[in-house]
Amino acid sequence: MNISCRPVHHLSSLARVSRTISTAIGPVSSSRCPLSTSSSPPPPTPRTTTGLLLHARATRPAAPLLFPADRRRPSYRRRQPNNNRTMATSQAVTASAGQRLAGKTILITGASAGIGQACALEFALAQPHDLRLILAARRIDTIREIAAAITQQVGDGVKILPLQLDVSKPDEVRAFVGQLPDEFKNIDVLINNANKADNPKSGGVRGVETAGNIAEADINIMFDTNVTGLINVTQAVLPIFFARPDGGAGDIVNIGSIAGREPYAGGSIYCATKAAVRSFTDSLRRETISTKIRVMEVDPGAVETEFSVVRFRGDKAKADATYAGMEPLTPQDIAEVIVFNVTRRQNVVVADSLIFPTVQAGVGPANMYRKTA
Ligand SMILES: NC(=O)c1ccc[n+]([C@@H]2O[C@H](COP(=O)([O-])OP(=O)(O)OC[C@H]3O[C@@H](n4cnc5c(N)ncnc54)[C@H](OP(=O)(O)O)[C@@H]3O)[C@@H](O)[C@H]2O)c1
Repeated sequence: MNISCRPVHHLSSLARVSRTISTAIGPVSSSRCPLSTSSSPPPPTPRTTTGLLLHARATRPAAPLLFPADRRRPSYRRRQPNNNRTMATSQAVTASAGQRLAGKTILITGASAGIGQACALEFALAQPHDLRLILAARRIDTIREIAAAITQQVGDGVKILPLQLDVSKPDEVRAFVGQLPDEFKNIDVLINNANKADNPKSGGVRGVETAGNIAEADINIMFDTNVTGLINVTQAVLPIFFARPDGGAGDIVNIGSIAGREPYAGGSIYCATKAAVRSFTDSLRRETISTKIRVMEVDPGAVETEFSVVRFRGDKAKADATYAGMEPLTPQDIAEVIVFNVTRRQNVVVADSLIFPTVQAGVGPANMYRKTA
């Protein structure tokens, strides 16, 4: 394990892109004006030479909102029976999300790519003045680049600790909390997002083999990462939560999948790991019912990340075919939901979220609408 506390001022290629973009759109605070209603289409998401996806928000003047206008108001409407929205109350709702994060320390596993990376920036943008992020994954250099890019974008109000951690290694997981610098020890929010593999490009699921032909190594790596790893990280962090008043406090967000609800042929191990995450999450919520610990699950449908590339063992053409004729979710879409869930009032637990792109209604071709040429 490698805990790095080096300042993240280094201007990586990613950070340089970020700076260019930040300059182009002006200060972060103004880019997040909650009242913006622009509807022009977003420009293409920028990629660095390292292939890293720079968070799309900074490049999307049309969508600089914490919660886009068409999706952010159901809870607000419930609180305003006459549906009488005003600018002041609208701003207050958005601002309170950031206020609820102030002073918090957030640990994100699997933060070097995809949804984890998007969460890191989304949290930073929600509370750019007073936040600590522990970004964990195996690819420490990538994490450092991401940390530098976030600092470049939001400033140094967000303190970031890049942490090299392989969640599938129980010894590393057991040790990491004790080795955190004091400033980062008091974890408030755990995002259990890391997922799977021995492949250097990471990912959540290996292969599409059917039972009878599944390599033992693939079974083990998926369970060690997606299930045992998630449970071990949770157990490492829970003592911090339990030490707080009222039996304990803190937030756990476990990233599951539609695959944990609807098993499909060719995904038996991945589906089984995500079903296990679901059971563990539900049990934990029941076990902590007398505390102020909030246990939440977020289950994405199709999201375009490295995930499919890993699944098809590096075959990019096959991975791209997964999304042919349909528009998948982006990692940012999931990150927005996670930040929203975590920033509800302490007494509100968004226990279970299932998120699809509009053309998806479940697993398999029958539940995915694709345009044909
Ligand atoms: N993409 C989808 O369509 C989709 C759909 C449903 C659910 N999900 C879930 O969403 C979560 C994120 O997936 P994603 O699509 O963002 O995946 P991704 O882009 O492949 O990223 C996976 C992340 O997990 C990290 N990771 C892998 N093995 C690790 C290990 N042993 N220890 C620590 N970190 C590890 C990777 O970093 P390193 O390689 O640097 O360690 C990487 O940061 C997963 O739980 C996945 O099951 C994704």
